[in-house]
Amino acid sequence: SDKKNMVSIMTGLSQLFGQAIQSAYPDLVDPPTTVVPSTQRFGDYQCNSAMGLVKMLKDKGVKANPREIAQNIANNVSENPLIEKVDVAGPGFINVYLTKAYVIDEINNLLSMGVRPPYVGARKRVLVDMSSPNIAKVMHVGHYVLRSTIIGDAICRLCEFVGHDVLKLNHLGDWGIEIGMLITNFQDEFPNYLSISPLIQDLTTFIQESKQRFDNEEEFKARAYASVVKLQSYDPDCVKAWTLICDVSRNELRNIYKRLDIKNLVDRGESYYQPIMPKVVEILDKSGLTKVEDGRKICWVPGHSVPLTIVKSDGGFTYDTSDMAALHQRLFKEKADWLLYVVNQSQNEHLETCYDAAAAAGWCDRKTTRIEHVGFGVVLGEDKKRFKTVYGDPVLVVDFLDEGIRRSEARLREEGRDKVLNEEEFNAAKEAVAYGCIKYADLSHNRVHDYVFSFDKMLDSKGNTAVYLQYAYMRIQSIARAANVKPEDIEAAIGKVQLSLDHPKEWKLAKCLLRFPDIVLRNMDDFLMHILCEYLYELCGCFTEFWDACYVVEKDKTTGNVVKVNMDRLLLCTATARIMEAGFRILGIRTVAKM
Ligand code: ARG
Repeated sequence: SDKKNMVSIMTGLSQLFGQAIQSAYPDLVDPPTTVVPSTQRFGDYQCNSAMGLVKMLKDKGVKANPREIAQNIANNVSENPLIEKVDVAGPGFINVYLTKAYVIDEINNLLSMGVRPPYVGARKRVLVDMSSPNIAKVMHVGHYVLRSTIIGDAICRLCEFVGHDVLKLNHLGDWGIEIGMLITNFQDEFPNYLSISPLIQDLTTFIQESKQRFDNEEEFKARAYASVVKLQSYDPDCVKAWTLICDVSRNELRNIYKRLDIKNLVDRGESYYQPIMPKVVEILDKSGLTKVEDGRKICWVPGHSVPLTIVKSDGGFTYDTSDMAALHQRLFKEKADWLLYVVNQSQNEHLETCYDAAAAAGWCDRKTTRIEHVGFGVVLGEDKKRFKTVYGDPVLVVDFLDEGIRRSEARLREEGRDKVLNEEEFNAAKEAVAYGCIKYADLSHNRVHDYVFSFDKMLDSKGNTAVYLQYAYMRIQSIARAANVKPEDIEAAIGKVQLSLDHPKEWKLAKCLLRFPDIVLRNMDDFLMHILCEYLYELCGCFTEFWDACYVVEKDKTTGNVVKVNMDRLLLCTATARIMEAGFRILGIRTVAKM
């Protein structure tokens, strides 16, 4: 295999088993060849293809039970450096045992070359539509923006890790009727806005006020509608008001993104696509996809029960139009290979309709261009209801982040960390824990479902939480320091000091480390980041077992002085830290040297 990449053991084994099945049963077309990691008692990996082959073979007139099939496959596995032996168990499982030499070799590669991505094929241009708040909506936690930002960023980091070319787009809602509401209220509140460029002091209050007026004042409502039409034809006064409002909103957003380490997010709201919307409507017309019904121009898409509204009866464009324009721009101008939309689950029907419309118009083939809605549920409070304050108000994202910092600080003080760390270290730890816990809470739950957020649970250093992982990482990092082994000593030992992996816990930890590339490959497929979280948690567990059972540093019982450093085991610690770092980097969680 190419040294540039980390080896995917699952791919390697499944190729070997593919060949074995091929030679055992040459007539079968596309037999299942998946090989999965197994628990210790049943070898290191397991191939369960035999069960699935019973029916395939029966259709070919071959009668055999799964156990016989499994044995036949096992007999046909060719000599190779990966597999020590295979045996058949139970009704037809094939247990696979890896060779120690192979695992040692890969751990050495990991140490000498660092953590590298598995091979994923040609470099792809990946566009990720993420975060995307509506300027005219107050940013609440229970809403989607925070989740889209956190999940979207992790997916971008993952795609970047495997070497793809990623463009992160913030599809801001900056062009619809809510904007008209804000503009109108702004013009009323700051009548001389054209000469003095006023600054909205409190955007949240301003938004609430605007909505209030829109809902209660008929005359205001009419002006709001009119101002959207004016804005969309670039009326200079409206554009000025709009720009001033968007600037305030963007400043607040920038602040949040900075706190959460969200980098290179390009602002490209709905407004960005306005100039190409007329052309895109024309293109859809020409493809014969649109028709006029009740004065509106709509687009029925095969397989969908609700049509897209492309042009409203007043001639205005809609959210649907902007998404069709964005799709066109992203496919043709940006030349994206993949389009990922990290958007809340409730927009699934809207997005799928747009994607299928694009395919129906011949803009793309959904079988070859990966256009995907990466959906997610909402954040709930501990009462499993909408996330809110003790007073029953929705929680603002900014307040939520502040609360995270407060809680994390209290937690670290409780543990006396403020006495051990200097101020700079303490602040770094405080932020790493707070934002880490908020991100991890989100990422460690299956994104498809709603999830219940609890600060207490997320700051628990015993469960599957960011703090637990951060502490574990820090402890691993401090082993060498405590034993007076310098980083350069470790560096020098790589490739020189032989790993033995003789202890079962060493062996278990090493095998767990080598599963990382397969976790990455799986995540590139499903973007279910909780799988990576679970893996890191499991890795920490393997490390703890190893640490409890194997001496890395041996100390004199009475003096406490270091008597012996088992360098091979220290290398295993180093390898663990490397994999953990790589995992944290993908999740967007900070590590600190001292905590
Ligand atoms: N701003 C939208 C909303 O608040 C989310 C945008 C998602 N992206 C998209 N291309 N439609 O619901």
